[in-house]
Amino acid sequence: MPLAYPATAADWRHLARQRLPRFLFDYIDGGASAEHTLAANVQDFAALQLRQRVMLDVSQVDSRCQLAGQDCAMPLALAPVGLAGMMARRGEAQAARAAAAAGVPFTLSTVGICPIDEVRAAAGTPPWFQLYMLRDRGAVQALLHKAWAAGCRTLVFTVDLPTTGPRQRDLRNGMAHSGPRAGLLRASQILARPGWVRRVALAGKPLTFGNLTEQVPGGHDLGAFKAWVDAQFDASVTWRDIAWLRQQWQGRLLIKGVLDAEDARAAVASGADGLIVSNHGGRQLDSVPSTVRALPAIVQAVGRQTELLLDGGVRSGVDMFKALALGAHGVLIGRPWVWALAGGGEAGVGSLLALWQREFTVAMMLAGVTRVQDIRQQQLAAL
Ligand code: FNR
Repeated sequence: MPLAYPATAADWRHLARQRLPRFLFDYIDGGASAEHTLAANVQDFAALQLRQRVMLDVSQVDSRCQLAGQDCAMPLALAPVGLAGMMARRGEAQAARAAAAAGVPFTLSTVGICPIDEVRAAAGTPPWFQLYMLRDRGAVQALLHKAWAAGCRTLVFTVDLPTTGPRQRDLRNGMAHSGPRAGLLRASQILARPGWVRRVALAGKPLTFGNLTEQVPGGHDLGAFKAWVDAQFDASVTWRDIAWLRQQWQGRLLIKGVLDAEDARAAVASGADGLIVSNHGGRQLDSVPSTVRALPAIVQAVGRQTELLLDGGVRSGVDMFKALALGAHGVLIGRPWVWALAGGGEAGVGSLLALWQREFTVAMMLAGVTRVQDIRQQQLAAL
């Protein structure tokens, strides 16, 4: 039976699986090694319980808030996801348009397909820009310059990828290999999805890293781009480099990929405006704690005055509420928006965000809270 009215992130995942070549679906869906952390991110949200409160006046509930100084319809932003433009025609532009319509920020990855100007023009508002530190600091400066010129004022600097985590599904599907054998394997998976070939491979060109076209020597082949980026990840970066980054960037700086209280203190001391508690969606070091589990110690270490966002395993408006009850100011979502994009394009992302907005508002009402800033630990049920 076709799924006429997708209602959950899981429904969109189901549709994405039907529409994408296998190696692309698994690239989104998978995590590092045995995927323990990937599973824990979701399960630890599910294990948290909320207090139901009644007979409080919840006739006026307001889900609006500010994230990185920006007015938002709810405490949620779309996380940076590399290659999202492979999942739907000009994918980042479509998703950014849906995010703008829903009143939430969209974050464009360094390794997105659509260039920043295209995303900005599509959405009518600048995205947040995510940066990986590259060995070529001139290339970093050029990227930051382009982001600033496009109107971006929030930089998300990702610190948990000195190298790419071991993603076994990508190995198995030939996504992580080059050469004719891997090419044939991917081609067989592509041929099984002719709709994707029509919609994305043919109508969605160019499928290159749109923000890096000036930096990458040698043509417009995605393989060449990937090889260049892999060689460019700078594993020597330390907190001292934040001082350099601060000189290059006059806007807000959010540091993404902190999971440890000690690192959280160092990040605040380095001059970050906020932190994103993240284990990269379980795609880097397997068997690190879920973000839900890591958050309380980080809140305690840096205090509520530091803007703390969290991502990893957020799968509903109720999970958003739980993250805030644990002390986050907001959440980012990765896989859910990409599944919705693959399954239904801009309308799919819009539908997912509208459902979550409603679910989050209902959670506020039934927990007896009328303002986002009043969501507190006392709304969690003691286990
Ligand atoms: C990511 N993530 C990521 N993060 C980042 O800073 N830059 C990037 O380019 C990417 N690329 C990327 C690709 C894919 C396919 C996934 C699933 C994730 C991590 C992402 O921003 C976010 O931290 C996680 O996706 C959050 O976990 P959930 O919401 O996917 O469970």
